[in-house]
Amino acid sequence: MTDTPRIAQAAPYAVEVTAGKSYFWCACGQSANQPFCDGSHKGSSFVPVKFTAEKDGKAFFCGCKQSSRAPMCDGTHKGLGA
Ligand code: FES
Ligand code: FES
Repeated sequence: MTDTPRIAQAAPYAVEVTAGKSYFWCACGQSANQPFCDGSHKGSSFVPVKFTAEKDGKAFFCGCKQSSRAPMCDGTHKGLGA
């Protein structure tokens, strides 16, 4: 596996999150359980990013894995053209 994350999808994943609950965002893009880590990063230099929800509601997790505000989408996916 390289150090370049796989683009899981060039758009965010909208997920209903629960206040106080923690989520582990997949940074490598290899998880079959996007946008969350399923352990597929093992053997690579990637580690998941923990996100703890502050409130109930929809959160937009980065699917392209290029966001500079990871694990949240910051709009970077718009420039990927994928
Ligand atoms: Fe991608 Fe764990 S599977 S970071
Ligand atoms: Fe990655 Fe939007 S999906 S920045």
